[in-house]
Amino acid sequence: METLNVELGDRRYPIHIGPGEAAHPERLAPELSGRRVAVVTNRTVAPLHGEALRASLAGAGIRGEPLWIELPDGESHKTLATVEQILTRLLEARLDRGSRIVALGGGVVGDIAGFAAAIYQRGIDFVQVPTTLLAQVDSSVGGKTGVNHPLGKNMIGAFHQPRAVVIDTNSLNTLPTRELRAGLAEVIKYGLMKDAEFFAWLEENIDRLLALEPEALIHAIRRSCACKAEVVAADERESGRRALLNLGHTFGHAIETGMGYGAWLHGEAVGTGMAMAARMSARMGWLAPADAERAEALIRRAGLETRAPAELDAARFRELMGIDKKVSDGRLRLVLLRGLGNAELTADFDDDALQHTLDETARAA
Ligand SMILES: NC(=O)c1ccc[n+]([C@@H]2O[C@H](COP(=O)([O-])OP(=O)(O)OC[C@H]3O[C@@H](n4cnc5c(N)ncnc54)[C@H](O)[C@@H]3O)[C@@H](O)[C@H]2O)c1
Repeated sequence: METLNVELGDRRYPIHIGPGEAAHPERLAPELSGRRVAVVTNRTVAPLHGEALRASLAGAGIRGEPLWIELPDGESHKTLATVEQILTRLLEARLDRGSRIVALGGGVVGDIAGFAAAIYQRGIDFVQVPTTLLAQVDSSVGGKTGVNHPLGKNMIGAFHQPRAVVIDTNSLNTLPTRELRAGLAEVIKYGLMKDAEFFAWLEENIDRLLALEPEALIHAIRRSCACKAEVVAADERESGRRALLNLGHTFGHAIETGMGYGAWLHGEAVGTGMAMAARMSARMGWLAPADAERAEALIRRAGLETRAPAELDAARFRELMGIDKKVSDGRLRLVLLRGLGNAELTADFDDDALQHTLDETARAA
């Protein structure tokens, strides 16, 4: 088992990582002992991992039975309506301000449950028990919570840090391979954006991760969480450095939106977006061509596409990038690579390099 901390002063919190972590009552007891607890999960995850958590909660000495809230599965349920239903259940059960929410599931459950915690009676504390790789290395750490609006993804939300994150690597054993690969995109992102040594480790160990070897998983998740924790501690509310976490995301969002939400998983689009960012950086002379190839090769070995779909021509791609929320003051800003492990946010990029990258992608796909 490994523990690292997100350093946010008096809101500092631990991230516990290891096989069987969610089944250890002592991980949950410090936060939940003697309190009433609502578990927010979904109908896919509950039958797989609900019982272990129930047993763990009982062992942690929570007050009474947990209030069990099972949502339907899917991003389409990440809405204010779902949050309202959760709030109704909490009120009906008379949970008070000292009660806690536990989010058991992927990023969708974590975002919804975290947002419900942020606004229930002006905010109650919550614990994340993420069960997808993406949630374990990204969404459960950092305090962004929220839901979608018909006019935009993640447009309603709040910053609300969890009290603890409990990452049980065993939960990945039931995760569909496609979801695992999508999570690996975010893992690779940390290496590319700020940790060249980790990137090299990933080149050596990507097959062990795909084979779900516990030691390799723990290492990769710990390094990823450490990267995210460091960025979040330095810039909790995304005024500057936190934006570097968006490496590959501007291209990725364009793919997700352009192909229709759900056709590409978020992580799949981010994987392709990072390969595009790497190629564009090489074109601008920021990144050695050999390093861009290394980036692309690793993304490919993780089982991810490196070229955007042929359906999106450059003009459509530009249009889709223009409506991305990373645009500030009307100028498109992109996260590019100055080298492996060295991402930089810039509005001052070479438009020809962008055009070539979009053209090449569309033609080559
Ligand atoms: N808050 C943040 O900082 C942040 C960061 C990145 C992404 N997100 C959000 O996260 C969401 C995506 O998260 P995700 O990729 O985890 O998707 P998800 O929550 O939809 O989970 C993917 C699928 O896997 C299932 N699942 C989860 N755990 C499982 C397990 N152990 N075994 C079998 N099936 C399992 C889920 O039920 C779902 O069907 C998006 O809504 C995105 O906006 C938030």
